[in-house]
Order: sequence, then structure tokens, then C-alpha cells
Amino acid sequence: MIYKSSTTAVPEVARVPRHVAIIMDGNGRWATKRFLPRVAGHVKGVEAVRGCVEACIQRGIEYLTLFAFSSENWRRPEEEVSLLMRLFVTALEREVAKMHANNIRLKVVGDLSRFDAKLQEMIAAAERRTANNTRLTVTICANYGGRWDIMQATGKMVAANPGISTFSEEQLAEHLAMAYAPEPDLFIRTGGEERISNFLLWQLAYSELYFTDTYWPDFSIESLDAAIASYQHRERRFGRTGDQLAEKKS
Ligand code: IPE
Ligand code: IPE
Ligand code: MG
Repeated sequence: MIYKSSTTAVPEVARVPRHVAIIMDGNGRWATKRFLPRVAGHVKGVEAVRGCVEACIQRGIEYLTLFAFSSENWRRPEEEVSLLMRLFVTALEREVAKMHANNIRLKVVGDLSRFDAKLQEMIAAAERRTANNTRLTVTICANYGGRWDIMQATGKMVAANPGISTFSEEQLAEHLAMAYAPEPDLFIRTGGEERISNFLLWQLAYSELYFTDTYWPDFSIESLDAAIASYQHRERRFGRTGDQLAEKKS
């Protein structure tokens, strides 16, 4: 069990973030600005994912988590939703072998029961195939919502502890969808909005937040480096004072 709650234990802090979590936003606006249909932005967005995965490997990041489809995105026009699903299938078909060859572990988290059977089977097969890879863990959050995650974890926690009514944070955290990963060190949202949009609500408790106006399809290695540079200038105090940190260093 790798999960440690940042509110109950102070995490180790490394110069390069171990875990980067990204809300990939702005695909639609990227396309609209170019008088293209929104789908063109999503297609370009998949390319940006490829570049970002490579950059994370080069930078020594261990976990990359990408918000691809939220539990609220079903509210979009049916046509856009079905197109996003098709893109997801194509991306899996094209990328899984390459990821495996590059020692990347793929995880997909969210309420997958709402996806069609073929997609669910593809996801399970991709996860099985890459399960023992160690270089980078890429997590795709699909039909994911932070509140869904906390609720499903609560259900499992209660079922696992019959007759108990008081629980610790760790008891809940071990049932969260991403219990295999440390909490994100760095959260990035592209596309200019400054909100969490029901992403990893529990896990972002002490993450450093970084917002950029860059639309996701334009997010490059340089953009990632800018986010990492900003992260490296932060003082992560986890409730302590700056003086306490200075003492620890000297
Ligand atoms: C993010 O881009 C991708 C998904 C939510 C699937 P958007 O599609 O939200 O792009 P904007 O925000 O409309 O520009
Ligand atoms: C958040 O983006 C979800 C994903 C990137 C998958 P949205 O574009 O759906 O977020 P809101 O609705 O603008 O907050
Ligand atoms: Mg958006």
C-alpha cells in the first residue's frame, strides 16, 4: 500500500514532482479559434498527450494522471460524447503496444460501468498487459468525478469494516480509485479556467496548483517545463511554518 494521506503524514518532497495530474482543457476553444469543428481539437489533444507522456519520462516523473472525461461531460451533445468515446477506442488501439514497449503502465480510473462492453474489455486488456511496467504510470481518468470516487471508496470502506462507525483517513484512502499512487505533487489545468471541476478532490489536498491559458493541444514540453519550474519555486509547508523548514535544511 503506497497511499499516505498528506493530512496525516508529511510527504517526502522531491525536486521533480513524482506525480503530475492534469486537467487537459481547451480542446474545443483551440479548434473554434481555427474555425475547425470541436472534434479537431480533441484529435489534436490526443497528440499532445503523446508528447506529454514522452516529456514526463524524460523528466523522471513517476505518475502522470490525465483527466480525459468527467462524470459531468455526459451533459455534452450526444455527437461530441460518442466522438470522444471513439477517439478513446482508437487511442487505445494505437498506443497500448507502444506504451508497453516503453515500459509504461496504463491505468484507467472512473465509473467504467457506463462505457460499452467493448471499451471496458479493451481497457481491462490494456491494464493487464502493462501491469508490471515500471518506468511511468499513466492514469486516464474517464467518467471520473472526485465525488464519485469518495462515495465509492466510502461504500467499500463500510463494507470492509462491518459494525464499525468511526474510520481513519487511511481506511478511506485505501479504497480510492488511485490508491496505488501517491497524492499529486503538481496539478496543472490548461485552457485558462481556474477551477477543479470535480477532479481528484480528496487527493489534491496539498498539491501545488498551476493554471495556464495555453489550450491543451498547444501544451508542449516547454509548457510542462514552465509548470515544473513554477513548482520548484514553491515552499511546500504542509501546515508547518517557513522557519521550521529552514531549520530542517540547515
Ligand atoms: C477538454 O477540452 C476535453 C474534454 C473535456 C473532453 P474541452 O472540450 O472542454 O475544451 P473547451 O473547454 O470547450 O475549450
Ligand atoms: C474538465 O473540463 C474535464 C476534463 C478536462 C475532462 P471541462 O471543460 O468539462 O470543465 P468545465 O465544465 O469547464 O468546468
Ligand atoms: Mg472545457
